[in-house]
Parts: sequence; structure tokens; C-alpha cells
Amino acid sequence: MSNTRDSFHSRIGFVLAAAGSAIGLGNIWGFPTQAANNGGGAFLFVYLIVTLLLALPALYAEVYIGNQAQKNPVSALEDACSDTAPKLGKFAGLIGLCGAVMMLSFYTIVAGWMLAHALSPLAELIGYTDAATWLATSSTTRNLMFTPLFILLGAAIIHQGVNAGIEKWSARLMPILLMMLVLLISYILQQPGAAQGLKVYLIPDFTQVTNPKLIISAMGQAFFSLSIGVGGMMVYGSYMKKDRDIGKLAVSITALDTFIAFMAGLLIIPALYVAQAAGQQVFQDGKLIGEAQLIFNILPELFNSMGTVGLLVAMSFFLLLSIAALTSTISSTEVPVSYLVEAKKLSREKATWLVSAVVLTASMTIIAFFDSLFGLVIRLLTTMLQPLSCLFYFIVVGWLWRRGNKLRDSALQQGRKWLPLWGNYIRYVCPLLLTVVFVNVAILN
Ligand code: PHE
Repeated sequence: MSNTRDSFHSRIGFVLAAAGSAIGLGNIWGFPTQAANNGGGAFLFVYLIVTLLLALPALYAEVYIGNQAQKNPVSALEDACSDTAPKLGKFAGLIGLCGAVMMLSFYTIVAGWMLAHALSPLAELIGYTDAATWLATSSTTRNLMFTPLFILLGAAIIHQGVNAGIEKWSARLMPILLMMLVLLISYILQQPGAAQGLKVYLIPDFTQVTNPKLIISAMGQAFFSLSIGVGGMMVYGSYMKKDRDIGKLAVSITALDTFIAFMAGLLIIPALYVAQAAGQQVFQDGKLIGEAQLIFNILPELFNSMGTVGLLVAMSFFLLLSIAALTSTISSTEVPVSYLVEAKKLSREKATWLVSAVVLTASMTIIAFFDSLFGLVIRLLTTMLQPLSCLFYFIVVGWLWRRGNKLRDSALQQGRKWLPLWGNYIRYVCPLLLTVVFVNVAILN
């Protein structure tokens, strides 16, 4: 396994694995939380625009670079810049790799919470009420148990390779997640207070849409949600046969991911208002009281109101979230693993355990200094590192890739009328847009 390159067996296999990477806690927890905190509809509106203008082209560039190189992200970027700035390419690849580890370090903590919440209703059903309460209550001991457990689960899948396993898991579980969302949405929309939430979510307050803080949050959220800027999509692109129509694939992944985020908002924002109508205090000065509350208090409260069925619903909901999180961690883990296997000649097994050990150390550090580190790492990753990496991808595809402007060549080959402009859009407009947003991040931080 260590010297032959594994690959996806079909184009749909790639789309499902990439969608599995994209669809995760970012969609179901992150997006609704950000939307609720940033004026609902205004956030949704800006999010859609940023996704279309910047995140989708960045996803395209990232997958494209990987697909052309057929190598791990560090070597792929080094390769892509070999005529111009190979060292810079390698450096950018290594920065992405650090981003993947950063992502894993806090993501596995949150995913551990999901696992605990999935087990809690089970404990309740079989009569272990104390255990159920413990599982549903945030504590350091719970973190210390469930974060390693989750890392172990991920490692167990990853060390087997990028094979039909991931393809099949994603294909079966994602539709169930969607069905679950639809069922929960139809339930919540019938509850008192839901209409108010729907209004807040779907009707943007246009005075808010130019707020730079909102734009930066929406950008960070979009980059995180599409899993771009850490090399995960690049490595998946490299596992696909060369010269596919990457544009089409990128559009499908973006559409799927955005649709799930939109649906999660449709569930959670109305649920907040239902909870408020029932007397819970949800907002203070227009902000959510405690962000974790959203999914870990308000939703369980809602499930409780459904009676015993609610326990099953709660269990399946958190189980699916855990699985969605698992498929997301797999792509991030694959970044350092593929590098260690291909460039450092480690066996896949060894590489997996080494990466898991590093992630475990990083996540334990975050748990130890939770209040100061948790939010900081998320912000650093989503508003700095991911956009910076994406800026680099645009520059690689538009400028550093000397051996013919491959992007434009392929765009022309595909023969679509608007595609000749696509090359210029990536060369000039995308880097400029990102830089403008960046200057704002620097000023506002
Ligand atoms: N996109 C994933 C989510 O929304 C998170 C992720 C980020 C996965 C970066 C891989 C890389 O949950």
C-alpha cells in the first residue's frame, strides 16, 4: 500500500468523499451558530455571495492543483511552482499541513461531544440516568475520554487507505442525514414561534450586509465549510484520474455543502425561536447565550418534548453528526499522512499513528487551556490560514504555473463561452478580492 497510489474508483466516489469532507460540524453547528449571531438572513445572504465569488473558485483551484500533480499536497504545490518558486510552494504546502492538524485539534474535541451526546439517550433508554446526565454535561473528564476515542475511530479508518470504505460510508450516510434534517424541519416548523425564526433567517436585513465583521465571518465559515485551504481537497483531487471536468465537480460539491448548511439553518434558527416562545432565554443583546448551547441544550430540549421517540431522534441525530464529523476528519488526516507516506517513505500504518499522536497532543493542549485556546485556534485557522492558503492557490494557478496557463487551457478545451473569462477571474479578481478582505481582517483584529 505504501508505494502504489490508491485512488477513488469513480467520479461519483470522489464527489461523495469530497462532500463527506465538506459536510460536517461546520454545516450543522457552525453555520447556524454564525447565522444566529450575525442577523440571520443577512449572514445567509453574504455567505451565499462569498461562497460563489471566492470559495467555489478556491475549491476549483485546490482540486485542480492536486489533480494535475497526482501527489500529496506538499509535493503538489512544490511541483506546481517548480519553474518559479519551488521553495515557496513547499512552504505553502507545509503551512496547509499545519492547518490540517490545527483543524483536527479542535474538531476532534467537538466531535467527541457529539459522540457523548449520541450515547446519552442510549444510557437513558436502558435506565442509566446518571450516566446519561454525565454524558450530556460538558466536563474536562468527558473531553479527556471522548476526544481520544474519536481520534482512534478516525485512525482506524484512515490506516486502511483511501478505498471503497470511505466511498461507501459517505454514500449511505449522507442521504440519511438529509432525511433526518427534513423530518426535524417539518416538525419544528409546526411549533409556536417557528414563523418568527423563519422570518429572521430568510429575510435579510440589508443594512447589515456591508458590515465588515459579518463579511469576514461569512468568508471564514465558507472556507471552513468547503474544507479548502488545508490541502484536504487537494489530496482528494490527486486521488482522481487526471483531467476531469473539475469545474463541474467543484460546483456539485459546493451545491451539496451549501444546501446542507442552508437546511441546518432552517432547522436551528426556527428552533431557537420555538425555545424562546417556550420561555427559554436564548439571546442576550442580539447574540446567542453560549454558542454551544445551541446544539447541546436547545436541540435536546426539543427532542425531549417529543417523548420517548425524542430519545431515538436525539440518538440518531448526534450519531449522524458524529459520522459527518468522521468523514470530515478523514480528509484532513489524509493530508499529513499522504505527505509522510510519499515524501518521507513511512508506512501508511506508521504515518497514521504518528499523525494521530500529534493531533492528540494538540487537542489535549487545547483542552488544558480551553478558554484561551479553543476560539483562538478556530479563528486563526478560518480567518487567516485558510484564506491565505487559498490566495496562494489562486496565485499558483493564475501566475506561478508557468508551463502554459493550464487552467485557461483546460477552461478553453471545455468550450464554454464564459470560461475564457474564468482564467482572468482567477488571476486578477480572486486574489484582489481576498486581499481586500484580508486588509480588513488585519485592521479589525
Ligand atoms: N468542512 C468541514 C465541516 O464543515 C470541516 C473541515 C475543514 C474539514 C477543513 C476538512 C478541512 O465540518
